[in-house]
Amino acid sequence: MKKKIFIALTVGVFATMSMLPSCKKDDNNDMNTTTMTLYDSLGGTQMVDDPSNSGQMIEKGRLGIRSVVDSTIFVIAADPSLNGFFPVLLSEVTAGDLSGFSALSKNLTDFFCVATGAKNFSYSGMSMAAAHDPAQNSRMNGKASSADFDQFVADLVIGAKKVGLSDQLIGQVGAVVATTKGDVVQQ
Ligand code: HEM
Repeated sequence: MKKKIFIALTVGVFATMSMLPSCKKDDNNDMNTTTMTLYDSLGGTQMVDDPSNSGQMIEKGRLGIRSVVDSTIFVIAADPSLNGFFPVLLSEVTAGDLSGFSALSKNLTDFFCVATGAKNFSYSGMSMAAAHDPAQNSRMNGKASSADFDQFVADLVIGAKKVGLSDQLIGQVGAVVATTKGDVVQQ
């Protein structure tokens, strides 16, 4: 089962690893007062080839976020302290059905694009409180505790490091994630 999940989830992740921006100094100066968003630091709106969709282009910032998201889902799927929360997703993937994975990847990517300052995307998934309430989201198996949340963030850091995100950007993404704790933790 782990092998199938590994194959299914890593294809896109490793295909995009080399596309991530490196840690770059903000080169704004007095003549240029444009404020860089975290999304800009993650690659911004520059269009690049989408390594997962032949012939399609994708914003570099979105590609960076998507590769962190997919990498993190893979880390969580292999983490026995968290993967029990995702029984529907994992049984789908094990059966070769990637529809739920694609939907989760899209929603998480949209969520982080918007949260980091992207202008060209919107988030249309459930609210953070509803998504993490088993009574409202049957794909969520149980309520998350503060410790579960912290473990999720630890897995996110591992997932982000795996695709080459700098420590500085990981810290900034972590600050965005921390703002959701009150809604995600429900026990
Ligand atoms: C750390 C901050 C977190 C953020 C920003 C976040 C964000 C999200 C988002 C955007 C979705 C998709 C909602 C939708 O499709 O409408 C989702 C789904 C989900 N989240 Fe989280 N989440 C976080 C933490 C957690 C934690 C700590 C757990 C479990 C301990 C968890 C378990 C789940 C599950 C089980 C789903 C449904 C997955 C599926 O589609 O099968 N999340 N989350």
